[in-house]
Amino acid sequence: MQNDALLRARAGFAGHFGHAPRLVASAPGRVNLIGEFTDYNEGFVLPIALEYRTVVCGTPNESNLVTVRSEATQESVSLDLRRALEPDAPGRWSNYIRGVLAGFGGIGTALRGFDAFIASDVPMGAGLSSSAAIEVAFATLLEGIHGVKLDPVAKALLCQKAEHSFAGVPCGIMDLFIASLAREDHALLLDCRSNEAVWLPFADPAVAVLILNTNVRHQLATSAYAIRREECQAAASLLKVGSLRAATLEMLAQHVDPLERTVMRRARHVVGEIARTLQAAEVIRDRDWIELGQLMYASHDSLRNYYEVSCRELDAVVHAAREIGTAAGVYGCRMTGGGFGGCAVALIDAPRREAIERAIRESYGRSISTPLTCFTSRPGRGAELLEA
Ligand code: GLA
Repeated sequence: MQNDALLRARAGFAGHFGHAPRLVASAPGRVNLIGEFTDYNEGFVLPIALEYRTVVCGTPNESNLVTVRSEATQESVSLDLRRALEPDAPGRWSNYIRGVLAGFGGIGTALRGFDAFIASDVPMGAGLSSSAAIEVAFATLLEGIHGVKLDPVAKALLCQKAEHSFAGVPCGIMDLFIASLAREDHALLLDCRSNEAVWLPFADPAVAVLILNTNVRHQLATSAYAIRREECQAAASLLKVGSLRAATLEMLAQHVDPLERTVMRRARHVVGEIARTLQAAEVIRDRDWIELGQLMYASHDSLRNYYEVSCRELDAVVHAAREIGTAAGVYGCRMTGGGFGGCAVALIDAPRREAIERAIRESYGRSISTPLTCFTSRPGRGAELLEA
């Protein structure tokens, strides 16, 4: 997979604006090892940042205009800072830019004009947080342009607000947090109630994180995300808890009224997933990869059966992984991210990667005709700003 966004962003900036950029900011995509749909329920998540990053180059100009060029869409957006920043049409990439700029203005920074160019190696629309990478990279560039240093948690929250108010996606904190705070060779155990982060060393050369992109994204993805979030709130109200973090399996067992069954199934996933994520942190500490793999499979089953956010492509990847089995070097596999397409993540024996990839593709290809893209990633680092 392409991993030269830095070169492309620098060259793209020079080609478009006619001079070299002064600042280079970047932020990574992420893959969540376990802890899915737990962030907005005040639970735990356990992502790693990818080595693949979004890069934003920029230079201040002496005008009131912010001009941002995107390599991916080959479009530019120009914003006049003398006017109020409004959201663009839903689904437009400029919402990330607008939202983060508005957030920056909102904390009392006098915004100044600049030119910027974005290039990214994070696959788009694949559940690997390409939007969080743009937002956090752009916020990091804004720090450099304005000479302001934000607390990394405040930066994550500012970007989350941009996602809510401008992009219209009611996401949790996980993606923004890992993009902002990731550490190389570490997984992040994040408590989404307190925002307390624990970095777990995750750099055993014997295992690899294999990301399997189905390259499909089903229509349902965006609307279902908001609906699940509401269902979780409804379940929390029924259980009389502030959030599902405070719910227990015993509480759920007392609510078997068929009319309430859907929301209780959602809660069932969340309660189980929070427990699995904490167990996963323990087994990562012990380097017990077999047990981590079992937790990943259990997470997938719960996402498929209780949370109902999987799809046949993701199920086919996980089925292929299971067929190969631990003895042949696949410890575990699950869908990752928002669901209804996108990627699965597998934990595998690193030296056997090629054979494993081949076997997964072969099994997957028996039932699914769309291509599967596979790549590995070590845990990458969080957002950073460099002088170009
Ligand atoms: C998306 C959201 C995250 C999280 C995941 C599911 O990636 O942006 O906040 O809710 O889905 O775990």
